[in-house]
Amino acid sequence: MRPHPVLDQLGPHAARLIHNPIAHVLAADHERCSGFSLRVGPIYANFARQKYDRAALDALFAVAEQIDLKQALQRLVDGEWVNVSEQRPALHTALRSDIGQSPIALAAYHSAQQQLSQMAALVSELEASTVTDVINVGIGGSDLGPRLCVEALRNAGSGRFRLHFLANVDGHALDHLLHTLDPERTAVLLVSKSFRTQETLLNGAVLRDWLGAQGVARLYAVSSRPDAAVAFGAPERQVLAMAETVGGRYSLWSTVGFAIALALGMEGFRALLSGAAQMDAHVVGQPLRQNLAVWHALTAIWNRNALGFGSQAILPYDERLGFLPDYLQQLVMESLGKSVRSDGSAVEHATGPVIWGGVGSSVQHSFFQSLHQGTDTVPADFIGVVRPAHTLAGHHNALLANLLAQTQALATGEDNDDGNRRYPGDRPSTLLLLDELNPESLGAMLALYEHSTYLQSVIWGINAFDQWGVELGKRLADQLLPAVVDKDSTATDPVTRIVLQEIHARR
Ligand code: F6P
Repeated sequence: MRPHPVLDQLGPHAARLIHNPIAHVLAADHERCSGFSLRVGPIYANFARQKYDRAALDALFAVAEQIDLKQALQRLVDGEWVNVSEQRPALHTALRSDIGQSPIALAAYHSAQQQLSQMAALVSELEASTVTDVINVGIGGSDLGPRLCVEALRNAGSGRFRLHFLANVDGHALDHLLHTLDPERTAVLLVSKSFRTQETLLNGAVLRDWLGAQGVARLYAVSSRPDAAVAFGAPERQVLAMAETVGGRYSLWSTVGFAIALALGMEGFRALLSGAAQMDAHVVGQPLRQNLAVWHALTAIWNRNALGFGSQAILPYDERLGFLPDYLQQLVMESLGKSVRSDGSAVEHATGPVIWGGVGSSVQHSFFQSLHQGTDTVPADFIGVVRPAHTLAGHHNALLANLLAQTQALATGEDNDDGNRRYPGDRPSTLLLLDELNPESLGAMLALYEHSTYLQSVIWGINAFDQWGVELGKRLADQLLPAVVDKDSTATDPVTRIVLQEIHARR
């Protein structure tokens, strides 16, 4: 691989540290225990258990200076064309505040405010209706963000609805809902930025018909192509627009968050936006060394490019954050899973890692064996919550003790003459501690991950806002559908042809 002119500066530090365990680095510099930590509003972050030292960090921050991450953040919030392949800005920050002061960012902010007022009116109408259940029909960014927030903030909500999420084109998911819900008391919310997504249109069509001619009054839609939603059958006044300049995986802050507003009430939804805006202000305003998103992004770069780790675990120690690994899978892997730069040239270093994870303490009893003693090192983000939303103090103390134990055991390990019982340690992790899980802290944390993702893309010179990689599969699925339906229609690919024969023979 041809070295990256800037990332190359990390090489000598990696060579020095690769055989220097985290435990030694920690012992040599006790100050780092507090020095490598930051607080931003309700979030405390500690990077002391990462496998770098001060000299390596200096090199990382020098990379950040040379690439000018501060200016890159300003370009983002000001609405410059950071999404080069689609020739447009990425204006998700304008959904949360007027932090971008350029005319384009301010226009996006005002239009988002207008869309939110329309959404608030529909939320009030639904709250006053006899509807008890709402189905959010959408996939990818039109599902994961709303689903994560509704699930994570179930203790914080004033909304009175039962929310259901339908994403998959697998009919089992839809069939289950059709058999458990009452169409007279259910509202259907079609969420699709493009209003072209196969899964959403297929599920939506069945639900539109299930509601019936009268029930269409309970059909709602969110799209950047509102005309398409109206043509599909949603009453015009129940179709909310969203901006073309907001990417699907960055869109929960827009009208895509309708389900969140229904679950939390508008006040809760606005608190989510204000938590994110607080993080935006921090990230755009603070110098690199005091900037949490910059620390987080540089740590990811260090683990991926200097130490060569290919995956990153997301380990929330809070049952309510169960969808966080799924949500971050889309945010990070769709944004950073690229092998060409924004100018179309091939990258010559590793980019986005595989993101995966699960909820502690449960996952300690499934894959943690491998995290402790497996041959691959997997850096992890541990996420804890200081104050729970329940009164079972014994449970919460045990949960926090497990969280602390795992981060310590992974980093420092434990020696033993018996190799089977030896814990090598030297497994890096970052700890994020939320004072409590509420709309503000969740908003701030998700905005942190968005900014970290963007900053990594800037360092690598790739586009965090397109996702061309998903298009070929969609196109082939369209082409293959006739051959799945009709056994006399054939496919050109020899393996697909044989598999189709097998399917048709067993039907
Ligand atoms: O297939 C990927 C994708 O385009 C995601 O980026 C997006 O979040 C998802 O599909 C859903 O798209 P839409 O909101 O347009 O239905």
